[in-house]
Amino acid sequence: MKGPMTCRRAGPLRGAVTVPGDKSVSHRALLFGALAAGETRVAGILEAEDVRSTRRAVEALGARVRDEGAEVVITPPERLSEPGDVIDCGNSGTSLRLLAGVLSGVPGLAVLTGDASLRRRPVRRVVEPLRRMGATLSARDGDRLPPLVVRGGRLEGRRHVLEVASAQVKSAILLAGLSAEGETTVVEPERSRDHTERMLAGMGVPVRVEGAAVTVGPSRPRGGRVDVPGDVSSAAFFLAAAAGVPGSEVTVRGMGVNPTRTGVLDVLAAMGAEVSRSGEREVAGEPRADVTVRARELRAVEIGGALVPRLIDELPVLMVLATQARGRTVVRDARELRVKESDRLAAMGETLAAAGARLELFEDGCAIEGPTPLRGVTVRTRLDHRIAMSMAVAQLFAGGEEVVLDDVACVATSFPGFFGLLDGLCGGTP
Ligand code: S3P
Repeated sequence: MKGPMTCRRAGPLRGAVTVPGDKSVSHRALLFGALAAGETRVAGILEAEDVRSTRRAVEALGARVRDEGAEVVITPPERLSEPGDVIDCGNSGTSLRLLAGVLSGVPGLAVLTGDASLRRRPVRRVVEPLRRMGATLSARDGDRLPPLVVRGGRLEGRRHVLEVASAQVKSAILLAGLSAEGETTVVEPERSRDHTERMLAGMGVPVRVEGAAVTVGPSRPRGGRVDVPGDVSSAAFFLAAAAGVPGSEVTVRGMGVNPTRTGVLDVLAAMGAEVSRSGEREVAGEPRADVTVRARELRAVEIGGALVPRLIDELPVLMVLATQARGRTVVRDARELRVKESDRLAAMGETLAAAGARLELFEDGCAIEGPTPLRGVTVRTRLDHRIAMSMAVAQLFAGGEEVVLDDVACVATSFPGFFGLLDGLCGGTP
């Protein structure tokens, strides 16, 4: 699906869906599988552009990846090797940053690049710590932006204290740490998603977690089975819509409910929506559950501090929902939103204001007054899947008016079936 799309749906949303596999877990399964000593079998991997970028990258480093029925099987090489060409990570920041960590320990030269969006995203955050471990890295614009050149080699473990909570940076460093001499520790200001820690531990790597500090030593994952839960960040579009469109009730089955990711559920509940879970279980080290959200009158909330890394990717759609909540919703400590696939604060601020929202932007967040009926708008999606999907949800609050998305190709980076599932929920029965 490419080019413009006109959204003209009406709620309520009713029904039960399964969403595609978690993007973060899928990237890690491929990368850790490529580093491993033995084979890795992955069930439920996300079939989307971002994950294809990681798959092509690990193949370029010598791993074999094949589809076997519903599973993906990764056969690692004896040692990863220097790629024969530039590695194109497409739109995927996770691919580029985690690969920078892996490649720091692979002797040889590698060049990582991506699309116009990714080439605007900061890489100094991985360049500096990986350099301190002994890798040689350089990047465009004074080491700020991709393309990123990595010359890997012998690494030394050390302790890194991060200024921002970032699972990508943490994971890049820990992956480098697997091939370093001595221990490598990453300390974050707040805990970010912990899929790396869980999956490495599941593959036999000793991982020590003490508060917001994570330590690994030289080690090789053994491979094994990964079972990817449904992506809470994809489910969030339907759950947020269900919370705000009167009469809605949506269940997402088999959704990942790792506590480092479920800030969005906490916020929906704090806004007054009815949120319930059933069938909670742990599969291959990650918890999952069937999650149901029912619409209620919504009230404003405050979002900041340690909650922010737990819902960072869900903030665009929560900004949409805040326009429907009574009172002033305030988001703080979310400066990171400015360096995602687009500057999401600017993008959502501009777009929601054009749709009639009452909103004020800050350097690190925003304030939104509600409830406000939205109106139709034309959206510049800026190569950012979450802007496109958030504004498709905003259309449900636009009193029957149309929202035009200028280019929906970006949605395929994380959620190719999004529009079809949204159609089903809008026309479906519970
Ligand atoms: C991700 C970490 C987050 C998140 C991104 C996926 C990951 O980025 O926004 O979508 O898989 O590690 P940061 O590490 O930059 O916060």
